Amino acid sequence: MSAAPAPKGAAGLAGGSRIPRHVAIIMDGNGRWAEKRGLPRVAGHKAGAEAVRRAMQSAVDHGVEVLTLYAFSSENWKRTSEEIADLTGLMRFYLERELATLHKEGVKLRLIGDYSAFGPDLVARLDRAIDHTATNQRLTLVVALNYGSRAEIVAAARNLAEKAVAGDVDAQMIDEDALAGELQTRGLPELDLLIRTSGEVRLSNFLLWQAAYAELMFVGTLWPDFAERDFAAALEQFAARERRFGGR
Ligand code: IPE
Ligand code: IPE
Ligand code: MG
Repeated sequence: MSAAPAPKGAAGLAGGSRIPRHVAIIMDGNGRWAEKRGLPRVAGHKAGAEAVRRAMQSAVDHGVEVLTLYAFSSENWKRTSEEIADLTGLMRFYLERELATLHKEGVKLRLIGDYSAFGPDLVARLDRAIDHTATNQRLTLVVALNYGSRAEIVAAARNLAEKAVAGDVDAQMIDEDALAGELQTRGLPELDLLIRTSGEVRLSNFLLWQAAYAELMFVGTLWPDFAERDFAAALEQFAARERRFGGR
């Protein structure tokens, strides 16, 4: 990654522009990108991984605090074993290749989803990367791996139920904060902006709870084509939107 200009977060706010604290992206369209070029789907996933580097650098450059990326959904196990192997192979490769850069850029890695499903080798590598970057503060990069929002909410409800049965919480006192505190996104700032690429207009079981008041943006660009200027354009659009949160 190139030398980063000073984060624009605080300065941007003072200057009147509004930088979202937490941006999430449903990175869709890798397969179509490859098909358009007569290439195997894995070529699209490779190009998609390069787009991840660009998005991360953009988030750092613009002073976004948290970038959450949907990399593998709990429904993506429906794909062929070949594609799944390609995806996990790429994860391993990029993790090795990019870890030093992540660390140098001050990026802290965090995961959501049940990534234990990816097997002991990748799990160990991911855990090492999390440990290695744990004290970084510039950007928190949250990667959703084997993530499904409904399962996340169910697990949160189950935890609260168990605590209630054990007498550790009063069921009558369970409120939104209590449930949010059991989600895997606990402690992160509220989701401000959710972007989906590739022209599909759906959430595909991503951050259903967290997106309650996020600004939604659906762009036609296929994920591997998503460039710095697209990220900047999304932030510009975000700044121009009026968020009302139910007020008038
Ligand atoms: C998104 O691209 C990447 C993953 C879901 C892992 P797709 O692979 O879904 O690409 P399309 O939607 O088939 O074009
Ligand atoms: C959502 O994309 C999951 C990720 C981007 C990782 P999909 O391509 O799996 O979603 P659907 O199947 O079009 O809803
Ligand atoms: Mg897709």
